Amino acid sequence: MKEKRRRGKPKFPKILFAVFACTLFMLLVSFTVVTPLNNDDTYPPSPSDNISTKAGIELGRKLFNDNLLSNGNTISCATCHKREFGFADTVQFHKGETGMPQPRNTMPLLNLAWNDHFFWEGRVATLEEQVLHPIRNSGEMNQDIKALCNELKNEPEYLLLFQKTFGSSNIDSVQIAKALSQFVRSLYSFRSPMDSIMQQAKKTYSKQQVKNTGKPFSAILQANPEPLKAALRNRGYNFSKNTISAFVTCMQCHDREMNGDKPAIKSNGMATIRKDKGLQGITGLSSDEGKFKVPSLRNIMLTRPYMHDGRMKTIDDVLEYYNHNISGYPNLDSLLLKDGRPIDFNLSEHELEEMKTLLNMFTDRHFVTNANN
Ligand code: HEC
Ligand code: HEC
Repeated sequence: MKEKRRRGKPKFPKILFAVFACTLFMLLVSFTVVTPLNNDDTYPPSPSDNISTKAGIELGRKLFNDNLLSNGNTISCATCHKREFGFADTVQFHKGETGMPQPRNTMPLLNLAWNDHFFWEGRVATLEEQVLHPIRNSGEMNQDIKALCNELKNEPEYLLLFQKTFGSSNIDSVQIAKALSQFVRSLYSFRSPMDSIMQQAKKTYSKQQVKNTGKPFSAILQANPEPLKAALRNRGYNFSKNTISAFVTCMQCHDREMNGDKPAIKSNGMATIRKDKGLQGITGLSSDEGKFKVPSLRNIMLTRPYMHDGRMKTIDDVLEYYNHNISGYPNLDSLLLKDGRPIDFNLSEHELEEMKTLLNMFTDRHFVTNANN
């Protein structure tokens, strides 16, 4: 808004003018703060104490990409979480600011607004808490939050953005966490070819049918994969029965948030190495050894190497593992057991290629090229 300053005699007393100006300013500020983004099914939900706004996401995006967040101003969140690789990266263990490699592979960031457990074993329950971990962690950004707040207060652009977002530029860790979380929640991937295929398959079941069973969509799909096959045929793909049957098994664990479920923490049977016991590290229970958060298959062709420790270099390594080599590790999930033994999908070379074609359909080009992410 353009502000015109009157140099001459004011038409009404100064005090009235000041009250009027103050009220106008507060109205404007409260308008920016309380204007939430469309909080319906088509947009990621946000918690009531940190409703996403355009200004908040913009501030979060700036923080996410700013080296200022690290102690020596050398790395940002985006150094490890790269948009072009689905907000993951392509090294096994990325180095933190001090040059120490991370103990785990960088996780991709997408559709986290629907998650309530973060990190590979799901040890943190809110994004607001999660986003401060990498800043403070000595192996990552190694930063003192108070020092960071002071650095940000010296930047006029940040002062403005914090003011615009929170109605106050009293920059503190809570505001930083809220803004970063708003940005991370805005990373919403829903435009892969697999999305439209699944949507089409879903339409084939009547709503009543889905409701009556009370089962997640993935289970309905496994019981009757015909609508999925039909949707694929519509696009010119005629995959073998074996491939489809293996694929719907994958979908019992992966990308459950596509159908309104939270990601599970399970074991796919891989033996734990490097002393990383997964969920057991938190609960102490031997029944939780080797359980990790099931990652999304979205953009999976862009995020190698694979698994929590990046032990598998290529998607072929992963498929070879699932196809013939699932180990009977004690906590292997029952979905990968058949007659008490690890499943052998027994896919032929040709079927493995078909599986790769299916995995390719999870690449959301819009998501990885959108400069607004
Ligand atoms: C040095 C590389 C590195 C940097 C810098 C980094 N991350 Fe990460 N990020 C990781 C790794 C590795 C994990 C998995 C860690 C674990 O499970 O213990 C992870 C996990 C996450 C997760 C959990 C995702 C999920 O699905 O549960 C979020 C969210 C996240 N990072 C956000 C951020 C934000 C925000 C920043 C900047 C403030 C940041 N990261 C900086 C490497 C990094
Ligand atoms: C019982 C649940 C379950 C089933 C079924 C399952 N997975 Fe997984 N998958 C997991 C878990 C858990 C992980 C993470 C393991 C880890 O990091 O230690 C994982 C990891 C992966 C990864 C690596 C992801 C990443 O970001 O590093 C890929 C790729 C993958 N699975 C593909 C498949 C395919 C293809 C199938 C079907 C043939 C399948 N999965 C079936 C649970 C499952």
